[in-house]
Amino acid sequence: MKEKELINQAIAASKMAYAPYSKFHVGAALLLENGEIIQGCNVENASYGLCNCAERTALFTAIAAGHKKFIKLAVYVDRAAFTPPCGACRQVIHELAPGVEILLINNRGEIKRTSDAELLPLSFGSADLEA
Ligand code: THU
Repeated sequence: MKEKELINQAIAASKMAYAPYSKFHVGAALLLENGEIIQGCNVENASYGLCNCAERTALFTAIAAGHKKFIKLAVYVDRAAFTPPCGACRQVIHELAPGVEILLINNRGEIKRTSDAELLPLSFGSADLEA
């Protein structure tokens, strides 16, 4: 089943995290229109402002590979709480994957479903530059 596979790939991606500073290992898995899944993890830097979140790693990787339509985005951290995307990632999701279904996964195997519209109400986007 595709959703189980997506969750497993988000878990696998969290194991690739480069997070020596926060020790907070985040994995993301992005389901494409063609059924393919692209993984992302957070990548930190000693210059903290350069840290990149797992969600953006996955989205940027997908865009760089030529993909444009995204169905689901799963986010996993090995803890009981759900990990919602940060503000920067919400803005990027709004631009690159506005209709995507977002699945927050905890280490109990529970799923919290959300969306760009719920995470970033009254958003600013490309349309605002034209109006
Ligand atoms: N982080 C993510 O990768 N995704 C989130 O949704 C929240 C935060 C990362 C950024 C940083 O490397 C670490 O988690 C702690 O904030």
